[in-house]
Amino acid sequence: MKDLIEVAGGKRLWGEISVQGAKNSVLPVLAACYLANGQCVIHNCPILTDVDAAIKILKYLGCKASRQGHTVYVDAENAYGYEISEELMHEMRSSVVFLGAILAKTGKAELSAPGGCDIGLRPIDLHIGAMEKFGAKITEEHGRLYFECPEGLKGTEIVLSFPSVGATENIMLAAVTAKGNTSIVNAACEPEISDLADFLNRCGAKIHGAGSNAVFIEGVEKLSGCEHRVIPDRIAAATYMCAAAVTKGQVVLKDIIPAHIGAVVSVLSESGCDIAIRNHSVSLSAPPVLRKMGTVRTMPYPGFPTDAQAPVMAVAALCSGTTVFTENIFENRYRHVSELCRLGANIKVEGRVAVTEGVKALSGAAVTAPDLRGGSALIIAGLSAGGTTKIDGVHHIDRGYENITDNLCQLGADIKRIRDYEERECETKKNTASGA
Ligand code: UD1
Repeated sequence: MKDLIEVAGGKRLWGEISVQGAKNSVLPVLAACYLANGQCVIHNCPILTDVDAAIKILKYLGCKASRQGHTVYVDAENAYGYEISEELMHEMRSSVVFLGAILAKTGKAELSAPGGCDIGLRPIDLHIGAMEKFGAKITEEHGRLYFECPEGLKGTEIVLSFPSVGATENIMLAAVTAKGNTSIVNAACEPEISDLADFLNRCGAKIHGAGSNAVFIEGVEKLSGCEHRVIPDRIAAATYMCAAAVTKGQVVLKDIIPAHIGAVVSVLSESGCDIAIRNHSVSLSAPPVLRKMGTVRTMPYPGFPTDAQAPVMAVAALCSGTTVFTENIFENRYRHVSELCRLGANIKVEGRVAVTEGVKALSGAAVTAPDLRGGSALIIAGLSAGGTTKIDGVHHIDRGYENITDNLCQLGADIKRIRDYEERECETKKNTASGA
């Protein structure tokens, strides 16, 4: 079963939509539910395959977990599972964020190397090193990792060599119920870290400084359940802004936190987009001709997010002049470039640098989403391109965007999802062959 997204480009986007809850927040928050005694109710959970995978993992560990619309209910009271199957680990990269919670709760953990987007080497050495500092013993056999800490985790000081988002989350999860205090030096500052800390603190944890590069955690005896609303998805917001930019559109995105999209707003403003921020919304009005954006460097938050690099590159492909991208976070995050070039973009990659010479127009073609954000870049490019763009590899896009085709339709795009297109094509071929 394979779906396809088909875009007939050239429609100007106009109107208003709400932005989904943040994928990158909901996943660690769901992992954190494993530590709580009592029911957790998580609101504003986007409907995504990655969220389904997290719910599957919670059930596999023995929790009661269910979803009603955008609310997920988790009760981990009588759950003591400590291993995640290889299959579930491969379903999503973020499954590794369960490590800290499992080890803290059961004193042991068993998992394998995580899956997720193929955007370069995604090692977990920082996660493993941190668990060792908490006192865990680690062994590896046939690609499975075994963690043991029968005496329980002990608070410690951890200095990260890079402000890894996932490692910071895992350390916080391990530390909240560890004996004594933990400090994280060079912690990641992403808004999703603050959201996780807010949730854990509401459950009774004592985390200070989350959102800065120095986080301090006082271990507590136990956590209780609570209700929490996940923050808006700043990358989905950035994606819809880019879609409006390339179609000379004018859109309003509701339910966002403006402070979280500062770096993207600054880059898109350079291209000539008129962007106005209100309390919980942003409006973007695109100019008739987009200007080059100079240099875009991906950085840890509050710098320009690596997850917005591909969508913004689709905008740069249509700007007058040259925009240079430097990817500083992942070393293989330009897999969308060759696909954008199939649509007529002029982009050259040299190591971590991509030089984008804007062209007047793109033209529709058949392309394949190489990963989640690369997939959204192809949709954006397709919205502006002449003719029809057919995008394969839709399962990548489903990992992070809820109802992207419906949202874009609501804004006036001519875009549809064709379900099971391979089976249909086979049917058509069979019918043609048999003269039916
Ligand atoms: C998270 C986000 C992802 C985003 C990324 C960077 C989630 C579910 N995913 O991913 O969308 O693109 O942050 O903002 O929240 N690294 C190591 N060793 C480690 C861990 C990381 O070398 O143990 C390196 C990675 O290879 C990468 C860099 O650190 O080069 C950043 O990775 P990290 O911040 O950990 O990203 P993720 O948490 O995987």
